[in-house]
Amino acid sequence: MHTSAFQALEKAAVYVPLLVQEQDLAKAIQGAQALGFTGLNVTVPFKEKVIPLLTGLTSDAQVVGSVNTILFKDNKIIGHTTDGAGFQQAMEMELGISPEHKNFLVLGAGGAARAIVHQLAKQDCQVFITNRTLQRATTLATGIAPTAVRKPIVVEQEFSRLAEVTKKSHVIINTTSLGMEATKDQSPLPIELLNKEHQVIDIIYNPAETLLLRSARELGCPVQNGVGMLVWQAVKAWEFWWGVTPPVQAMYEALNNSLATR
Ligand code: ATR
Repeated sequence: MHTSAFQALEKAAVYVPLLVQEQDLAKAIQGAQALGFTGLNVTVPFKEKVIPLLTGLTSDAQVVGSVNTILFKDNKIIGHTTDGAGFQQAMEMELGISPEHKNFLVLGAGGAARAIVHQLAKQDCQVFITNRTLQRATTLATGIAPTAVRKPIVVEQEFSRLAEVTKKSHVIINTTSLGMEATKDQSPLPIELLNKEHQVIDIIYNPAETLLLRSARELGCPVQNGVGMLVWQAVKAWEFWWGVTPPVQAMYEALNNSLATR
């Protein structure tokens, strides 16, 4: 994505994947700083582990407790997360959804859910969270509560309770890994709870259409997969490094081409 955007702008920059062992994480970050890198992206499994190695965090990174973007500036190493803002921008661009006065049902309570719930709950909307491990959902809701306009509500995975909350929800968001290749015949929500009034987002992008998304699309629901979030978190990272917006279309095309050849 970034390479395509550099090419589209004829920008003299490179973006490369760098594999780092955990015991070398501090050296890797200091090395990148010493070498004059503009910044880094950080992915699984280091989004939390890098935090003690940075000199500062944006408020989003602080609340979410996760960093996917680092900026080297004026001898400082600043950590930021663009996952939540990227999610929201993709949702607005692809489905035309803005969060105000909406009810969201978020399936899952892992790292991705934390970024998404924090982002949504900064606005005047109601977020419901359900997760296989209820305690993780409770911890997420409690952690987000201080910055939330309305405190997220935790929902037990008992059928009648899920049915009641699903019915009240305008937008359903899957952040769990259920529906990826190994579990592609499974849905994170009983399919019979969907109705055509729902808008359904799955942050999985491979496969492009999970069982949840296919079922929703067949019912007539507007649906969105994880490609948009992946593109827009990269767009927001670029904006954090350089303060300008990259050619988004070139980034979408690069990602879609790459996914199509897998
Ligand atoms: P990520 O950073 O991508 O969000 P994660 O932090 O490992 O990844 O979170 C994975 C999410 O998928 C969790 O909500 C997890 O549920 P648990 O908290 O109960 O582990 C959920 N998940 C993974 N496999 C699942 C499964 N087989 N059934 C239901 N939920 C599952």
